[in-house]
Amino acid sequence: MRDAIVLESTESIQTDPPSKDFALKNGSSLDRIDPVYWRLGERKVDAMGAGKVVCDGREMMMLASNNYLGLAGDARLMRSGMEAIKSWGNSTSGSRLLNGTNQLHLKLEERLRAFKRLESVVVFQSGYMGNLGVLSSIVSKDDVVIIDKLVHASIIDGCKLAGASVRVFKHQNMESLEKVLKRIAPTIKKLVVVDGIYSMDGDFAKLPELTELAHRYGALVMVDDAHATGVAGPHGRGTADHFGSVEPDIVTGTLSKAFGCFGGFVGSTKQVTDFVKYNSHSFIYSTSLCPSVTASLLTALDIVEKEPERRENLWACTRYLLHGLNQLGYNTGLSETPIIPIILDDENTMFNLVARLDSDDIFVSPVIYPACPRKAPRVRLSLTAEHIIADMDRVLGSLERHGRALGVIN
Ligand SMILES: Cc1ncc(COP(=O)(O)O)c(C=O)c1O
Repeated sequence: MRDAIVLESTESIQTDPPSKDFALKNGSSLDRIDPVYWRLGERKVDAMGAGKVVCDGREMMMLASNNYLGLAGDARLMRSGMEAIKSWGNSTSGSRLLNGTNQLHLKLEERLRAFKRLESVVVFQSGYMGNLGVLSSIVSKDDVVIIDKLVHASIIDGCKLAGASVRVFKHQNMESLEKVLKRIAPTIKKLVVVDGIYSMDGDFAKLPELTELAHRYGALVMVDDAHATGVAGPHGRGTADHFGSVEPDIVTGTLSKAFGCFGGFVGSTKQVTDFVKYNSHSFIYSTSLCPSVTASLLTALDIVEKEPERRENLWACTRYLLHGLNQLGYNTGLSETPIIPIILDDENTMFNLVARLDSDDIFVSPVIYPACPRKAPRVRLSLTAEHIIADMDRVLGSLERHGRALGVIN
């Protein structure tokens, strides 16, 4: 199975030119967006604090970041970054395969490899670039990529770049996945791709069942562990750690969420990561991670490993808020993680609820199609280790009042 992981070895170049027919030219897409969305969709943050932000002079509780462990503002990460700037400067000024690899990159790859319990890891400049890089290099147009309906956009873009055939199965539905697998000839190479934790729904992929099923049909499994790395499992190693004994063939992720910086990674066998390194354009033709970020990430890894209490507090707040919301009668869908959607029936109600929370100094994300199904707009809440139970009580109090006023709950 592992030897067969490199799905193709020759073609890695996308030939279709990008369409010039973009939304502004057609004139319709922007008109359709509610003006409230423009205001709430790109609010200017003036300052950040522990679980809080300042916007337009107002201190607000931050319930919309991916700063799961509260490391984005951690002084130790900042110090490491500043020290690295003194020794290494601001930029590597080159891509990894030319002059842009230094000992910080190699150390980070080794530390991540050990943390994620993988054979090999290659670091990218972002999670988006990692997904683009791995899919465009190991998948060819003769292969089939089978994706959960709700996978992240970077996976869909990676498939487009690879020129692969894409088949979609219903979200988390193993019968639907099996139906798709059955219809593909056994001789065709197949890769099943899922998110470890779904970014707009907050549910875990059913990794043990899914991996068993995919392997039974000769398909490989790739998991995007962007939201689970640092967060899920007894050691915070991600989705595989959460479930125990399950081994996906490829794991990708970001370093911008629990690790509080930015960057991304692709992990698998050494054969695969070497192949990805030498074939993915997003790795080869882009300047490597800057020294300050790379050094801060090494410190972030130390903290993730040595301070499990951050994760424990995050999960305690998660359980408390989920329970409280469900008691109030809110629909939180399949959520079981620090990403908690409040799913509503229409966009107007959703925007009204977001605006009311905003007026209570609570910063949340409004989410509409295509980031979620058209008929299920949502207020997306996401927690950090810097929140405390009293914050959750404040949010629940606010949501109780406004939900009743809007007729969303009884
Ligand atoms: C599931 C998932 N994959 C990939 C990414 C991209 O990561 P990055 O922000 O590091 O490019 C994100 C970011 O939102 C994500 O949620």
